[in-house]
Amino acid sequence: MAREQRDWYDTPLYYDIIFDADTLKEAAFLEGVWERFATGKARKMKRVLEAACGSGRVMGEMLKRGWEADGFDLNASMLEHARKRLKRRDKWKVWQGDLAGFEVPKGRRYGVVHCLVSTFKYVLSEAEAVAALRRMGESLLPGGVVVLGLHLTDYGRKGCEHERWVEERDGVEVVCNTRTWPAERRTRLERVRARLKVTEGGVTREQETVWDFRTYGAGQLRALVGAVPELERVGCFDFQYDLSAPRRLDDGYADVILVLRKVGV
Ligand SMILES: C[S@@+](CC[C@H](N)C(=O)[O-])C[C@H]1O[C@@H](n2cnc3c(N)ncnc32)[C@H](O)[C@@H]1O
Repeated sequence: MAREQRDWYDTPLYYDIIFDADTLKEAAFLEGVWERFATGKARKMKRVLEAACGSGRVMGEMLKRGWEADGFDLNASMLEHARKRLKRRDKWKVWQGDLAGFEVPKGRRYGVVHCLVSTFKYVLSEAEAVAALRRMGESLLPGGVVVLGLHLTDYGRKGCEHERWVEERDGVEVVCNTRTWPAERRTRLERVRARLKVTEGGVTREQETVWDFRTYGAGQLRALVGAVPELERVGCFDFQYDLSAPRRLDDGYADVILVLRKVGV
């Protein structure tokens, strides 16, 4: 079977089927983080911005929970998918933007800004990463929270890391295999490959995407946050999305979620 090379974000439905498994947990976690950590006016502002919103799966869930939900993304197919799936037209805005230099609609501010599932690692230089995090902070009301979730890199790892998901929706089965090669400590890049095997109407086809992520160890993540002093670190969790199980920010585990609060009132 021929395997097609294509950006997996150009096929939003397949992405959505794979990543939907945690949507409810993620949305409940975001709301819980806001209830626990947001202060002042931000604690009354049920408006969330998703940086790189993809197919809009988390936005859709936040809307169901009574939030206004905005999002931007670089990929036009993802945005089109999000626009089609989202209900309550008066409660959301979606636009094309780059993490490294995005704008929010004039005067619009948020109680929560989030970027989960390692998406922030698409920003490949430190200067752009600092600028992106600063922009996320600027988009908040004072007392609002940035929620940043990413997979830390073990620079000592010699072999490849593999993950596999199998999900099915409405007769479409998607098997996703990812491979991450050992990171380059000097350049702070790691190569990632995602292979999707999609079976639909009795036909199976395969597609493959390869990209580079910027890498973070715990110390490098601490340094990034330290470069944006208008955000203070108030919480640290992992991809269990369990608010009753806080973690320390260290290299003892891989999947970190930081909660950063905008200082000021
Ligand atoms: C792993 S997906 C996450 C999507 C969504 N946030 C979710 O949780 O389902 C990564 C998303 O980041 C987008 N993306 C990649 N690089 C980007 C950039 N520099 N600026 C904005 N979006 C970007 C992709 O188009 C894709 O939709």
